[in-house]
Parts: sequence; structure tokens; C-alpha cells
Amino acid sequence: MPVIQITHPLVRHKIGLLREAGITTRDFRAITQELARLLAYEATADFPLQPVTLQCWSGPVQVEQIQGRKVTVVPILRAGLGMLDGVLDIVPGAKVSVVGLSRNHETLQPERYFEKFVGHLEQRTAIIIDPMLATAGSMIATAQLLKDRGCTDVRALVLVAAPEGVAALQAAHPDVRCWTAAIDSHLDANGYIIPGLGDAGDKLFGTK
Ligand code: URA
Repeated sequence: MPVIQITHPLVRHKIGLLREAGITTRDFRAITQELARLLAYEATADFPLQPVTLQCWSGPVQVEQIQGRKVTVVPILRAGLGMLDGVLDIVPGAKVSVVGLSRNHETLQPERYFEKFVGHLEQRTAIIIDPMLATAGSMIATAQLLKDRGCTDVRALVLVAAPEGVAALQAAHPDVRCWTAAIDSHLDANGYIIPGLGDAGDKLFGTK
């Protein structure tokens, strides 16, 4: 089950607010961050814990701390940046790797124009963030870049997924789990998710 739809009422409420055509840039940005926090909370639910003893005011006490792999968050430019601070609120120690992809208008394939990965990806959990899983071309390419550099635990967070993108991601990377706030109806002829959110990058940055 690589694509997991979060059904928590807060998530359902907030994704509905984002669909309002007249939403302001400020509200779109704020709610995107709130959703990113909630998705990150779900996507980290299986992080392993280890017992640690510390000095409490009342004496030694055994507590639990997250053990194991470090995290890199991977925003796909540009819209992925809109989710970054929300995820970092939940995983404040994470390092950030950035990938820039644009679609080649002849081949329709994603082409990389920027990448900056943190080191030792083989020791890290990677959490790719991009608000819209439409054709999934950028997500599939980014997951492959991470795997090519040794990463064995690749996860993804999106706000809205199209069934076409879900199927494509599952076919290309059955091991990559993706958490989403909604799975919508379909893609239109221009590759927009219907009903979707419109152009998430433009709405986050106030362009257009
Ligand atoms: N990217 C967007 O911003 N919106 C879509 O609907 C599809 C891709």
C-alpha cells in the first residue's frame, strides 16, 4: 500500500479549505504548512525508539528516544518548499536536500536542473515533499535519484494525489510509501488534478 490517504478529520477539514478558489496566498501557505505537519506526524509513526536513562528532578528515570537513521527532507522545487517548514517543525534535526526538476516539452520527461543532496544518504530516511502528485514524473525521478545515491528508506508527502500518479508511483517504486491528504478524481488534458488545488506553486508564491 505505497499511497496512504490520511483520513483524520483535521486533515480532511484543512484540505477542503485549500480548495476554495478565492483563498489568499497567506492562507494557502499557512494551511499547507499545517497539513505538512500532520502528514509528517503520520509518516514518522514507525520510527523506532530506544530506552534511555536520564536524571529527572525526582531521580533517574527511563525515557524513550528516537533511535536509528537520521532524516533528510527533500523538497522538489518549487512548490515543495511550501511544505518544508511544516515538516521541519516535526523533525527539527533533519537536513534538507533540494531537487529542481522541469518538464522537457518534447519528451515530456522531467529533467534535473538543480540538485544538492546531504551526505551519507545510505544512513538516512528521505522524505520527499511536493504538494501535487499529478503524473508522478517528478516524484518517481526524485526517488530514483535518492536510491542511486544509496538511500534505502524513501518516503513521500503530498497534499493531493491523482489516481494516475498513484498508479505510476506504485509501478515505478513499490517500496516508496507516500502519505496524502486526498486522492482526487483524475488529471485533465493539461495535467492538472481535478478537482485539485490549481497550480500549487503559484498559490504558494503568489505568482500569476
Ligand atoms: N501541479 C500543480 O500545481 N497542480 C496540479 O493540479 C498538477 C500539478
